[in-house]
Amino acid sequence: MLSGHFVRLRAYEREDLEKARAIYNDPEVNMYLRPDIPFPLKAEDEIRWYESQNPYGSGSYSFAIERLEDRQYLGSCGIDTVDWKNSHASVGLFLDKLYWNKGYGTDALSTLVDFCFQEMNLHKVYLYVFAYNQRAIHTYEKIGFKIDGTLRENVFKNGKYQDELVMSVLRNEWTLPSND
Ligand SMILES: CC(C)(COP(=O)(O)OP(=O)(O)OC[C@H]1O[C@@H](n2cnc3c(N)ncnc32)[C@H](O)[C@@H]1OP(=O)(O)O)[C@@H](O)C(=O)NCCC(=O)NCCS
Repeated sequence: MLSGHFVRLRAYEREDLEKARAIYNDPEVNMYLRPDIPFPLKAEDEIRWYESQNPYGSGSYSFAIERLEDRQYLGSCGIDTVDWKNSHASVGLFLDKLYWNKGYGTDALSTLVDFCFQEMNLHKVYLYVFAYNQRAIHTYEKIGFKIDGTLRENVFKNGKYQDELVMSVLRNEWTLPSND
């Protein structure tokens, strides 16, 4: 379990699945997510994904984001495509829209990135974000991510090819944001 100032990241439980799927299937949330998994997501596909998770594998790690004060489930985050040779990995997250703009995303991602550097000993953490997702870009910049570049018209989403930014933070640039 990884604790930030307002949230903790903990292992996924079966009880989280329905809530996670409802958030993922919300069009107002999904419009910001890469179409890597089917949309709308069916319960049986989500259960199959959950059952395929291997805690001993080295490929990806998924966490539930829970509010510290009342253990409310807020959303999900994860570490993907770990490349041990080059010492980097990608990260991603989404929250229920009820909890946007309250600082939880900043806290959750900071906690996740800190884990990547302090525990996984990675050199670089990166992510992909649609150019129109200004809230997310601002959040990532606040944490210390920098824009590496733009993948022009890289993903077909919401009816057109969308530009995606690649953003990253290096280990020697990383300082855990304070609670101020
Ligand atoms: C992106 C996301 C994880 C951020 O989490 P969050 O809890 O909403 O973010 P925070 O409250 O910590 O920070 C949001 C920041 O963006 C700012 N912001 C909000 N709307 C904005 C906009 N349209 N343009 C620029 N900045 C904006 C807020 O003011 C805040 O910055 P501040 O602290 O300097 O005032 C969350 O909004 C989310 O899940 N969105 C939908 C899914 C998604 O986009 N996932 C990421 C895919 S790459």
